[in-house]
Amino acid sequence: MPDYALLISSRAAAAYFANAQSVVMAEAAGVAGATDLRFDQIGDLVFLRLSADASVLPDLLRLSAVQGAFEMDGSMMRPLDHGANFALHPDFVWGEKYRGKTNETLTQLMINVGLQQMPLSDPAKLRLLDPMCGRGTTLLWAMRYGLHAVGIEQDDTVLSDVRRGLKKWTKIHRQKHKLSEGWTQKANKKGIGKFLEFSALGTAMRLIVGDSAQSYDLTQRKPFDLIVTDVPYGVQHMGGKDTRSPLETLKTCAPVWAQCLAPGGAMVVAFNSNIPKRSQLIAAFGGLELEVLDTKFEHRMSESIVRDVLVMRKAA
Ligand SMILES: C[S@@+](CC[C@H](N)C(=O)[O-])C[C@H]1O[C@@H](n2cnc3c(N)ncnc32)[C@H](O)[C@@H]1O
Repeated sequence: MPDYALLISSRAAAAYFANAQSVVMAEAAGVAGATDLRFDQIGDLVFLRLSADASVLPDLLRLSAVQGAFEMDGSMMRPLDHGANFALHPDFVWGEKYRGKTNETLTQLMINVGLQQMPLSDPAKLRLLDPMCGRGTTLLWAMRYGLHAVGIEQDDTVLSDVRRGLKKWTKIHRQKHKLSEGWTQKANKKGIGKFLEFSALGTAMRLIVGDSAQSYDLTQRKPFDLIVTDVPYGVQHMGGKDTRSPLETLKTCAPVWAQCLAPGGAMVVAFNSNIPKRSQLIAAFGGLELEVLDTKFEHRMSESIVRDVLVMRKAA
């Protein structure tokens, strides 16, 4: 099996702070057959060294913090002329900056961790749901992976913001696309069910206004292979009406999200482990026939936020 040295980007520290190495390691450990993982520092450059079959090189190049790969030849590093080959220009994910945006690198990690649960699937056939999608970082990342994505967001102002951003980046990058609007249900004054759809390069995303607890009906009860979401941290986004904690909202949403997930599907939830605690979040998803995986991605972001990611799988 070849030995690889993966160059770790400075994005890792920006996303995972002082815990960058343990988070990067946990994500890479999920790549099928990757063994002997360790870090190596040469000058200021940090490499993740590992052995893996050449067939998983595309997965290694798509790890959230990896900037490039080298194949080891004794102590020499041979740069590999491969890229991660994503669809759409990176600006579609990184270009818009707004308050409450989920870190783009963390979002990529979550999609990777979900995909690692279904290594034999063709991404172009997979459907992803972000049931608390904000302005669509997960949805746009999913399109870069070739997945079909649907998002639910309670704040109806996101539609015009996302439309404006998409118009800008499609124009700047001369990206052929289709942008349309519609309703998943009868038009109403509250805007529930109103959606914006963006398609390009054979894939698409649909962002629907509504309550996450109605995700199953809002998405026409069509199952999803992946659910990837970043829930409110109780700091920039409140957890619910008059409360910082998102726990009660999540308890209401959990059975609906489980219902949206296809057999064999994976659910990946980023949360502030100060509210709720990991054990409380696991309890909220209890009794729904979801297996909780043991992987942890805990990293301190600030005094009040210690972010972690919970990964669950539905039996096939
Ligand atoms: C951490 S933000 C997600 C940000 C998003 N990933 C992005 O980068 O734009 C959480 C989002 O969940 C939304 N949200 C909270 N409770 C919701 C609910 N019950 N139904 C739908 N959306 C909800 C909030 O409005 C907020 O936009």
